[in-house]
Amino acid sequence: MPQLFSPGANTLFRTVLIGTPFLLIGTVFALYRIAYSPYATQVGVPVDQPVPFSHQHHVAGLGIDCRYCHTSVETSAFAGMPATATCMTCHSQIWTQAPILASVRESLSLNQPIRWTRVHQLADYVYFDHSIHVRKGIGCVSCHGQIDQMPITWKANTLQMGWCLECHKHPDRALRPPSEVFNLNWKPAGDQTLQGRTLAKQAGIKSIQEITDCTTCHR
Ligand code: HEC
Ligand code: HEC
Ligand code: HEC
Ligand code: HEC
Ligand code: HEC
Repeated sequence: MPQLFSPGANTLFRTVLIGTPFLLIGTVFALYRIAYSPYATQVGVPVDQPVPFSHQHHVAGLGIDCRYCHTSVETSAFAGMPATATCMTCHSQIWTQAPILASVRESLSLNQPIRWTRVHQLADYVYFDHSIHVRKGIGCVSCHGQIDQMPITWKANTLQMGWCLECHKHPDRALRPPSEVFNLNWKPAGDQTLQGRTLAKQAGIKSIQEITDCTTCHR
């Protein structure tokens, strides 16, 4: 009977046999790295806006409270975006001719809202609500980072499911007195673990089972 495989085929077969798992592992690893890379998650990447609005200047510099512009953050799911008139309370007096504010003036004269580009955008199969987080004592900084140091806004966290769950499994690590929710520079005075447990009781935080249940966020 003639030989079916050449002598070299054995080496080739062995190479493929050993090589394939490595190739598979490599591919999975690469995909994983891509999915969690800044390129895919957009973490730390400043987002271009029609007007280069700076939280650094307006929040850290001028000391304006978040609620002055994001008016519904305490009461609804949506934080709210400022109307052009809100900007104009100041910019009808200061920097009135600045080219940098041209689209703000245009928006006012055309009576059309400024089209801000979204920085955060969850998929529509996820339910999220600002008011509950604010009411129970989760600071803006826990999710949005030091926005008062951003000249142009970027995402400070991935907002992926694992990130949400990490906190829902240990809410006591992030809880603060409700009076400090808007204070980006608040630090726990003592031991956060101890304090967190007390705050969890005071706020009446639901059980971990309840807030990690799929139907909490996927309704
Ligand atoms: C003077 C008005 C003003 C104040 C005060 C202000 N913001 Fe904003 N905020 C804006 C505007 C305008 C945008 C849209 C442009 C941008 O993304 O930078 C925005 C965008 C954001 C976004 C991104 C929204 C998105 O597209 O996902 C977050 C998060 C945010 N602000 C948080 C805060 C927090 C936290 C505070 C208080 C520490 C605050 N802002 C104070 C005007 C304001
Ligand atoms: C409470 C007053 C006030 C409000 C409200 C306000 N601004 Fe300003 N804004 C200022 C002042 C003051 C400066 C100059 C800041 C500086 O030079 O440090 C400024 C500067 C700016 C600049 C120039 C770039 C920079 O950050 O220095 C832009 C753009 C701007 N504002 C956009 C806006 C927009 C858009 C809104 C509405 C969402 C808004 N501002 C609301 C007071 C305000
Ligand atoms: C528990 C995490 C968390 C906290 C705390 C939080 N945010 Fe957000 N924020 C988000 C997420 C997630 C989104 C995107 C929501 C979406 O796409 O539906 C968002 C979006 C926003 C937006 C864009 C408008 C909107 O509602 O979609 C603004 C403005 C904003 N947040 C401001 C604030 C301010 C101000 C605070 C503090 C009072 C705050 N956030 C606290 C997670 C948080
Ligand atoms: C830093 C901590 C933290 C992060 C991050 C966080 N949460 Fe929460 N979340 C809480 C706390 C605390 C509560 C209040 C639980 C309660 O009602 O007692 C809560 C409550 C909720 C509720 C209401 C639960 C209910 O039925 O009462 C929803 C929905 C929710 N979170 C969605 C999300 C989503 C989606 C994300 C991610 C995009 C997220 N959360 C990220 C801390 C966090
Ligand atoms: C605390 C909120 C929260 C809970 C609880 C939660 N999810 Fe999610 N889930 C999310 C967020 C946020 C995303 C990502 C959405 C996005 O990328 O915009 C997500 C995405 C998903 C996806 C899409 C694939 C992916 O990973 O991005 C699936 C499937 C999913 N969740 C299933 C589940 C199941 C099953 C459970 C219960 C074991 C669950 N989730 C519990 C918040 C939650």
